[in-house]
Amino acid sequence: MKHRTIIAACLTVALACLIFSCSKPAQPSRIPSGYGQWKTTTDIRLDYPIPGHEDKFRVIRINEKGLEFTRGGGSPERITFPEGTIIAKDIFGVTNPGPADQPVMITAMVKAASDPQARGGWLWIVKDLKMGKETVMTGDFCVRCHDNANEKHPYGWKNPGGAFADYVFFIPGTDSVVEANPY
Ligand code: HEC
Repeated sequence: MKHRTIIAACLTVALACLIFSCSKPAQPSRIPSGYGQWKTTTDIRLDYPIPGHEDKFRVIRINEKGLEFTRGGGSPERITFPEGTIIAKDIFGVTNPGPADQPVMITAMVKAASDPQARGGWLWIVKDLKMGKETVMTGDFCVRCHDNANEKHPYGWKNPGGAFADYVFFIPGTDSVVEANPY
């Protein structure tokens, strides 16, 4: 009985450490509170299932800096988002949210090439909006799948020329290209 109590106490402490990440001091948020006013990167309704983000409704927005991305000539083309770009994707808890529904999570990419936590030049961030907890993903889980954006893929503009798209699936302003040039 005593052993069980000790084990239970240890587990509680371990859990508390996980939840409050007591070893690390809190970082200021990398996602500014006004991000909901930024431009969206696509007019396509994102409510279909995709691997890695489930089938929940999603809205992708980009800050002004990110709209200065460049498209270099050459074959294949090279797209580069500038340092300081923030792309934030709201993820809702349901597929078809009503006016009262709020996003439950943000996944974000922040261009910060010299940051030691960057992977492929981006910080990969998950923010749980219920817990208010923001985590920089330092494994290669996010970047490995987003590497598929750097070749032909089935989303948005579909990257028909196999451009290096800087790990971004939805390139702002490419929706019209899809209509004019269905792949
Ligand atoms: C298995 C594949 C996969 C994984 C893993 C994945 N993503 Fe994505 N992500 C996508 C796809 C596909 C899109 C296209 C938009 C959509 O339909 O939601 C996307 C879009 C995004 C966008 C909008 C920018 C863009 O590429 O258009 C952000 C930001 C994002 N993901 C962040 C993350 C973060 C952070 C992680 C890791 C926690 C992650 N993603 C893991 C597939 C993935």
